Amino acid sequence: MPITAITGSASGIGAAVSAAMRAAGHQVIGIDRSNAEVIADLSTAQGREAAIGQVLELSGGVLDGLICCAGVGVTASNCGLILAVNYFGVSQLLDGLQGALAKGQQPAALVIGSVAATHSGPDGQPMTDAMIAGEEARALELANDLGQPHVAYAASKCAISQHARSLAVSWGKQGMRLNVVAPGAVETPLHQASLDDSRFGQATREFVAPLGRAGQPAEIAAVVAFLQSPQASFIHGSVVFVDGGMDAMVRATRF
Ligand code: NAI
Repeated sequence: MPITAITGSASGIGAAVSAAMRAAGHQVIGIDRSNAEVIADLSTAQGREAAIGQVLELSGGVLDGLICCAGVGVTASNCGLILAVNYFGVSQLLDGLQGALAKGQQPAALVIGSVAATHSGPDGQPMTDAMIAGEEARALELANDLGQPHVAYAASKCAISQHARSLAVSWGKQGMRLNVVAPGAVETPLHQASLDDSRFGQATREFVAPLGRAGQPAEIAAVVAFLQSPQASFIHGSVVFVDGGMDAMVRATRF
């Protein structure tokens, strides 16, 4: 039975992805702060190391899939935490589990990015450059000094999408696929927290996709399960928008 490790497996998109991968016949090693096979805090270097060690132990050092869903949104307790989980909690797991994936059968990894990665601003942010350079302390300091959660969130998703696409070149040569799925608004506790927030609620409500609604976690999970399957064997290094048309609405000429 193929083995796939999934971060953020306890809630929202990660929970739906876990169900879809189990339905596709995979053994799932869920990683989350609670209700998972591996309990770990991906916001710290020690937590990430502990998660990697336990996944290697549970999988026998061989993984067929890795799906990074864990993330925090604009209501996180501080801006640095957004970068710590959404960028470093992903990049360090990709690094730490790459060797196990290299030994898997038709191995594939996937990162949950966001349509927010393309919003104007994050590309030119010094914190984006610091993340890509792997300078965690500096990146978190820049994010906390700026103090704008929506910029930190967009920058974290922009940086991790760029990082994944850069890694795709070397990973592809080793036979490992790596893609990004960029959801638009999806009905999860993270999205609900934005709706309920006095700073971000109105903007979240007003930014409606052309399809006229938010997505369901299962609609993201279906695409993720396809991208992880042998049917997607030539899709590699792609950012796939699953957003009800949000990206087309905002950036029709950029693709
Ligand atoms: P959620 O809040 O339902 O699930 C996130 C999961 O990540 C939770 O189980 C949580 O415990 C886990 N997590 C958070 N911090 C962690 C940490 N330090 N260590 C370990 N696990 C941690 O949220 P949702 O919406 O399912 O988010 C999943 C991913 O989708 C995130 O990366 C998010 O940024 C992304 N996303 C969500 C969108 C939405 O509208 N819901 C839109 C675009 C992207």
